Amino acid sequence: MQFFIDTANLDQIKEAHDLGVLNGVTTNPSLMAKEGIKGKKAIEKHYKDICKIVDGDVSAEVFSTDFKSIVEEGKRLAGLHEKIIVKVPMIKEGVKAMHWFSENGIATNCTLVFSAGQAILAAKAGAKYVSPFVGRIDDTCWDGMELVGQIRHIYDIQGFETLILAASIRSSLHIVRAAELGAHVCTCPLDTIMGLLKHPLTDTGLKKFLEDAAKM
Ligand code: G3P
Repeated sequence: MQFFIDTANLDQIKEAHDLGVLNGVTTNPSLMAKEGIKGKKAIEKHYKDICKIVDGDVSAEVFSTDFKSIVEEGKRLAGLHEKIIVKVPMIKEGVKAMHWFSENGIATNCTLVFSAGQAILAAKAGAKYVSPFVGRIDDTCWDGMELVGQIRHIYDIQGFETLILAASIRSSLHIVRAAELGAHVCTCPLDTIMGLLKHPLTDTGLKKFLEDAAKM
């Protein structure tokens, strides 16, 4: 399973990259706004800065909602850097646009996916990635991870090549469950990646080893 970081924060992207486990980055308008980035030029520069840090795909989301504008915006984003993946919402115009991008050699990440039916449409439209939003489904008292397993099952029996990118990850346990269920990618906030490191027996074990090493 590949690890993407779900942030537009350059320091956090660098930290995950330096750990040596980072395969890509996902952003969305909320994450970009959180970094205080304003205006087309600043947004485009920020995507280029992210691409300089990371070895792998970088999802950049369109703000448009009609076919023609999604295509124009996506072409512009894809032209910024070869690592850019155009992130498109799961709406009717988005499906049309993803098909157009697929026919024209531009890779997409279908975002805001909350059902298996939407995931089938994303695959049929030729998306490179489909992003089920696990945490937001959990917020509605359903098990978001069930959807990841269901999509994996459908994609396997149908031979769809779209990669399942588990998104809206809220905990380190989510990452483990995504791996168990066969997500191809998990996009996570930095603290959930770092949470994988933690175990009290590692800490007490290391303390004892270091105490004993000092006796030698
Ligand atoms: O990748 C999608 C993700 O950013 C959404 O996460 O925590 O806002 O539901 P969250």
